[in-house]
Amino acid sequence: ASSVEIDVTKVPPGGQVTVPWQGKAVMVMNRTPEMLATLEKVQAQGILKDPDLKVPQQPPYAKNIYRARMEQKNMLVLVRICTHMCCIPLYKPKPNSVRPGWLGGFHCPCHGSMYDLSARVIVTSPAPRNMAIPEYHYEDGGKKVVV
Ligand code: FES
Repeated sequence: ASSVEIDVTKVPPGGQVTVPWQGKAVMVMNRTPEMLATLEKVQAQGILKDPDLKVPQQPPYAKNIYRARMEQKNMLVLVRICTHMCCIPLYKPKPNSVRPGWLGGFHCPCHGSMYDLSARVIVTSPAPRNMAIPEYHYEDGGKKVVV
């Protein structure tokens, strides 16, 4: 399997880059402290299909609320593919950009699945699972992510 390297220093706070990877798309998102704070709120709302990450859609080191390696928990490294029928979800980080009360995340244009800013699927979605987190690690003192 081929790997890709992404310079995380080029991903601005609140922004993302998406690159081709193994015939799919991998995305690196740089979440702000405000964006990270939404994760606890979504969890408390009880609107997640798999709040405890029971389905192994992430490596063990990403089995946490950030779904990320803790040394850079702001960075979400994601296989950007809807778990329903494999469309590419739109990045909708702004509050209320999908519906009133929306705290930010992803919206799939195909059949309306919604995911939060850790790519955890919302219960009303047709998608069955959270989006997948690939195996990844950092190099160059954390400046580069290798997927
Ligand atoms: Fe995303 Fe159906 S493919 S909701």
